[in-house]
Amino acid sequence: MSIHLDGRGSLYEQVYRGLRGLILDGVFGPGSKLPTSRAMGKELGVSRNTMLNAYQQLVDEGYAQGIVGSGTFVARSLPDEARRPGAQIPSPKRRLKLSTSSYAQRLLKHAPRAGASWRLPRHHLPYDFRYGEPAYNDLPLETWSRLLGRIARNARAGELAYGEPAGPIELRQALAGYLRRARGVVCEPEQILITQGSQQAIDLIARVLVDAGDRVVLEEPHYTGFSFVMGSSGAELISVPTDSNGLQVDNLDALDGIRAVCVTPSHQFPSGGVLSLERRLSLLSWAERENTIVIEDDYDGEYRYEGRPVPSLQSLDQSGHVLYVGTASKLLFPSLRIGWLVVPQDLVRVFTIAKAFTDTGSSGLEQRVLAEFIKQGHLERHVRRTRVRNAARRKALEAAVSRELEGIAELQGTQAGLHGVLWVPELPGSREQDLRRAAAERGVGIYPVHPYYRRRPRKAGFVLGYAALTEREIDEGIRRLAVAIKRLH
Ligand SMILES: Cc1ncc(COP(=O)(O)O)c(C=O)c1O
Repeated sequence: MSIHLDGRGSLYEQVYRGLRGLILDGVFGPGSKLPTSRAMGKELGVSRNTMLNAYQQLVDEGYAQGIVGSGTFVARSLPDEARRPGAQIPSPKRRLKLSTSSYAQRLLKHAPRAGASWRLPRHHLPYDFRYGEPAYNDLPLETWSRLLGRIARNARAGELAYGEPAGPIELRQALAGYLRRARGVVCEPEQILITQGSQQAIDLIARVLVDAGDRVVLEEPHYTGFSFVMGSSGAELISVPTDSNGLQVDNLDALDGIRAVCVTPSHQFPSGGVLSLERRLSLLSWAERENTIVIEDDYDGEYRYEGRPVPSLQSLDQSGHVLYVGTASKLLFPSLRIGWLVVPQDLVRVFTIAKAFTDTGSSGLEQRVLAEFIKQGHLERHVRRTRVRNAARRKALEAAVSRELEGIAELQGTQAGLHGVLWVPELPGSREQDLRRAAAERGVGIYPVHPYYRRRPRKAGFVLGYAALTEREIDEGIRRLAVAIKRLH
């Protein structure tokens, strides 16, 4: 195989351009498999990392597709620009080499490793335990589209113009009521900012409150939505362990100069512990003593199946150190991209400016639909209904695991939320991919938990999202998974 390296830019860019040329020339036809990065690297005399970066660039730009466990394949249809007859790729000689900011460098450094959720390709497996999917059939889409149609048809000029950057006041009022009833959150509607999912809320917090070099605590394991953003902001990331009661708050005493602590108290992500009331109170008094911000990610707090409901941290906070982050991604559906951030009164103005400078505000129509949806009681009805359905799915998962995998695997963290972690203690972490492949051959999608750890666990573990599956599918999926695990042992 000969690839022309044009000597311009970094080595991976040259390899990427060379490969792209071969794809465009049809040397690698649509759908064909590219040589493994190892083999190709050897042939070209470049490191495997260089090859991985080049492949990643092809994937990012739509020339290729990575299929976990199988390799990298040329896309069946190439990006529009490339397919247009006679389309010219600007000659690298004429192309300006843009340098990037130090923020951009940090973004690249912290970008997800293969396996972190938003990078996972879809395989359309019949028993897919992919985390983060609701049961789309449970959604009251009829009601949603009726409201959307009516609101869009009747929208007046003012409602179609630029809106409040923090979101229309009727949504913030409706949410303030909902959050009070459902999560005990105490706030004025003005303290709520509507964001594009909780991810934007976390990003805004980093911009407004975190400087490069600040020390930020993450749970171990942790939600990568925190580590990507905080790491990219230049913060020094410090891990504090968790157990079945969530963050081990006592460990904070040994740390000083902490700017922020990122927590998932209602259902530790991904391990599933619920932060005990005692720890909540000691976290809050520590934060007050140390003058530290606590970022509460309450992503699935509505789904709790065991024990007494624990109030949100925000509801216990007497001193205004908690920033509360919530999302419609679990309550409704992720593509809605609506989340909310509750900030202390004295930060409202600066957060509103940050939101305005970022995107001038989120999409107006959807926000109005959500406001109406909440006001008419649909959200709470939907949550009540899905809580019952998800409880049944969770029960099916627990029953199937104890029936099929007794003594072989342990399910952890299912007392709340929409996922659990399945540990396979006898299987070393290095064999996770083997099990993934074996499971996929049987139609079962499972996803390793290690991307959520800064220190990779020795044993194999998988995040199992169950909300999108029926009880029968969960049952059958676990039965098939058990066969795959037993064959590997
Ligand atoms: C811990 C955690 N927080 C938040 C979210 C939701 O993120 P967003 O609101 O940006 O969709 C998820 C989604 O998977 C999550 O796992």
